[in-house]
Amino acid sequence: MIYFDHNATTPLDGRVLEAMLPYLKSCHGNPSSLHRPGRIARDAVETARAQVAALVGATASQVVFTSGGSEANNLALKGLAWSLKPGHIRIGATEHPSVVESARLLAGHGWDCRTLTVDARGLIEDAALDAIAKNPPDIVSVMLANNETGVIQDVARIAALATGAWLHCDAVQAAGKIPLNFARTGVHLMSLSGHKIGGPKGAGALIADASVPLTPLIHGGGQEKGLRGGTENVAAIVGFGKAAELAASELQQRSRWLRRLRDRLEQGIEKLPGATVFARTAERLPNTLQFAVAGYDGETLVMLLDRHGIAVSSGSACAGGAREPSPVLLAMGVDPALATGAVRISLGKDNTEAEVERLLTALGRILETGQTY
Ligand SMILES: Cc1ncc(COP(=O)(O)O)c(C=O)c1O
Repeated sequence: MIYFDHNATTPLDGRVLEAMLPYLKSCHGNPSSLHRPGRIARDAVETARAQVAALVGATASQVVFTSGGSEANNLALKGLAWSLKPGHIRIGATEHPSVVESARLLAGHGWDCRTLTVDARGLIEDAALDAIAKNPPDIVSVMLANNETGVIQDVARIAALATGAWLHCDAVQAAGKIPLNFARTGVHLMSLSGHKIGGPKGAGALIADASVPLTPLIHGGGQEKGLRGGTENVAAIVGFGKAAELAASELQQRSRWLRRLRDRLEQGIEKLPGATVFARTAERLPNTLQFAVAGYDGETLVMLLDRHGIAVSSGSACAGGAREPSPVLLAMGVDPALATGAVRISLGKDNTEAEVERLLTALGRILETGQTY
């Protein structure tokens, strides 16, 4: 099977597995224990904290480990909101469901929640930014890179405009694919996830500036400076740390390779009759390409490609099988019929040129012969 669904999840890097194995086999200590096995586990967690911090230009003390990106987004929004009086929250119109649903919950608790509209390229509109600059809300949440289109927002500019607001940035898809610097972006909170960068599922982090008032979602034994109770998932955290270290050291070569593959794909797809590449003119992640072919349903194309041994996604994997058009594309003003045809190809560092050619050949054959599922 050729795997082109890395924005859903990446395969576990072999070097990450090696780093994790001791903590699954023999180093079984609880990081909160004082004895030697406990201290070994604590050291491993702290090494991972420094590795994750280094990937995003943060300090180790700013890293709060979570179960993944969804929990980090929930902790950012709800954790802030539970620490403040109900006020105003603004989220980007193309955010991940873990941000959208957290904001929806807060709306039921007296918060005024609205979306910041995006233009046809998926970028937050100037009018929406002017509004938050004139009248800063309490909380703003904007993703750095979109999971479906790969569109990259100018978060530093938004941070400069939204002075007075607590600013959260979902950087789950951006981390490890483009250079990232927490301090320089000017945000107060940033979400990350291990399994999008070659790490294991079940480990992520919220990078939190010390000034941010945060109420934990999980109360317990005071782990993670009291912000996330529960015995740490040591092996997964170690894996996340190793994946972050590798992503940082290989960032340039990975992104150069991914961009080369993506550009070749894009060239081939644009030649297909009836094909539209979404957000074509926006700055995008080097590994992501979303397109539709007029008259084809996205899920049908996904299943036809699956028959050819190729794994891609119809929109966001987190949207869970619903046949509704992608809300991200609808927010960009894409015609609902075309949005229903959306297919996302997300490349990984181990994909090859030959695999890209196989995808293009398979797609061409499917469309030429009018295959149906
Ligand atoms: C932009 C974005 N945010 C958050 C998440 C959730 O991350 P996790 O799967 O680690 O909960 C995802 C997962 O697809 C994502 O793409």
